[in-house]
Amino acid sequence: MPKQKLAKESVTIMTEMVLPNDTNTLNNLMGGRLMHWMDIVAAIAAQKHSNRIVVTASADSISFKQPINLGNVVTLRSQVTRAFNSSMEVFIEVTAEDIPASKKIMTHRAFFTFVAVDQNGKPIEVPEVVPESEEEQELYEGALRRRQLRLVLAKRMKPEDAVELKSIFNLDEK
Ligand SMILES: CC(C)(COP(=O)(O)OP(=O)(O)OC[C@H]1O[C@@H](n2cnc3c(N)ncnc32)[C@H](O)[C@@H]1OP(=O)(O)O)[C@@H](O)C(=O)NCCC(=O)NCCS
Repeated sequence: MPKQKLAKESVTIMTEMVLPNDTNTLNNLMGGRLMHWMDIVAAIAAQKHSNRIVVTASADSISFKQPINLGNVVTLRSQVTRAFNSSMEVFIEVTAEDIPASKKIMTHRAFFTFVAVDQNGKPIEVPEVVPESEEEQELYEGALRRRQLRLVLAKRMKPEDAVELKSIFNLDEK
């Protein structure tokens, strides 16, 4: 198992068409269906990075600002931003396209966390992520603060230990 892998090695792209069975009674894509697709595309990226079985540990807040319509083509792109010990943060970007109308919009961005596990479901170490592009570096930098925030919210970390997170609010200054 390599000790490090490039961020781009985990890039995963999934394309779906919104069919009647994916929609609510207003003919818009159901939120739950979209989250299911996000979970799959993100899990594949985490698997590519770790070459392990992965489980979803958390999904950061997802908001639904605008509907995705029946017949739209939905493209989900995922990439591991940073790995810690056994966990990996995955960034997901969703775009919806009305091909006949030549309209394409970015509808969602989200971060999911996956944990690599062995056959018994026990967390296992994963390679570090090496970011290359400017965007990958920005995502990598921010990942530590986002990890601290989600671990504090999950009551897995004391707020006073979230040093990098606190620093952006200057909470230690008088
Ligand atoms: C995720 C899981 C493997 C963590 O197991 P655990 O016994 O709590 O293990 P640990 O405390 O050693 O934590 C392992 C890693 O998970 C991370 N983690 C645990 N809960 C987390 C959460 N809510 N958000 C983000 N990361 C989390 C820890 O930070 C740790 O990361 P690190 O190894 O990179 O430092 C375990 O809770 C699990 O199996 N959950 C169910 C997963 C599942 O079924 N998902 C589908 C839901 S239907």
